[in-house]
Amino acid sequence: MPNFIDLKDLSKDQLLDIISLSIKWKNQEHSKFMTDKHVVLIFEKPSLRTRISFEVGINQLGGMTYLLNEKEMQLGERETIEDTARVLERYADMVVIRCFGHDQIKKFSKVSNLPVINALTDFSHPCQVVADLVTIKEHLGDLKNKKIAWFGDCNNVLQSWIEASVILDFELNIGCPKGIIPNLNTISWANKINKKIKINHNPLQVSEGADCVITDTWQSMGDEGSVSEEIYLPFQVNKNIMRQAKDNAIFMHCLPAYRDKEVSSEVLEGKQSVVFDEAENRLHAQKAIMHFCLNSN
Ligand code: CP
Ligand code: NVA
Repeated sequence: MPNFIDLKDLSKDQLLDIISLSIKWKNQEHSKFMTDKHVVLIFEKPSLRTRISFEVGINQLGGMTYLLNEKEMQLGERETIEDTARVLERYADMVVIRCFGHDQIKKFSKVSNLPVINALTDFSHPCQVVADLVTIKEHLGDLKNKKIAWFGDCNNVLQSWIEASVILDFELNIGCPKGIIPNLNTISWANKINKKIKINHNPLQVSEGADCVITDTWQSMGDEGSVSEEIYLPFQVNKNIMRQAKDNAIFMHCLPAYRDKEVSSEVLEGKQSVVFDEAENRLHAQKAIMHFCLNSN
């Protein structure tokens, strides 16, 4: 059974198929391929979009969900991750996990016979980026030759963006404060395959000619207070940043957004913002991801 842990585990064709299927199913009826499937959701961190879009999606596909929230489950606390995985495979057909340590979900997936989906870890957020790619394709057409500009923190969402840009070979410009850098192993992996990832500390240059401008919170869950927010101030996405991008550029944010911190209210609420389409697309993208994991016909 395939897992969905990181985008870099997928081939280009697999990722493109998932994106196409998401768009197809957004626009037309699809089979209830999860009838009688039982899905356990382990959420060690809060969630609105991910949890609800998985629950709604699974229910729409005929399946059933069982939530273990942060009060009931911290992986490896009450019993070993291995024992948890071995028990759950006796009951369920799939496990969706949002946890802190990426190693924990890796360990779980290594032991488990069930497909495991990464619903966000401290390291990556692949479901989000599939939905984002779907959103770009809907608004701007093919991803080929698109220029993506990322602003702010070098976090889990960016990690999945870097992986997507390597697999699909589009341009990714990262605008971040000095001293804040993406994962070094990822950058050297990316550079070997694709030279298009650039890191720039001059915010106005980052969005020059961009098709899509993206940001995320400066303080991810579990990270709060680790760095002073002041260093990020020049990287706020506001109208000066958007002015450098193409006229038809879109603005994306995975949400939750902190208005007038990483993005000005004006941009978030403005005409170029597609953040609620992006949130909706979580539902469609995850159906295609679950289809991939269940190897369904
Ligand atoms: N974007 C996203 O993953 O939102 P939640 O944290 O609300 O699930
Ligand atoms: N980078 C953010 C994403 C939230 C969906 C976090 O990890 O908190």
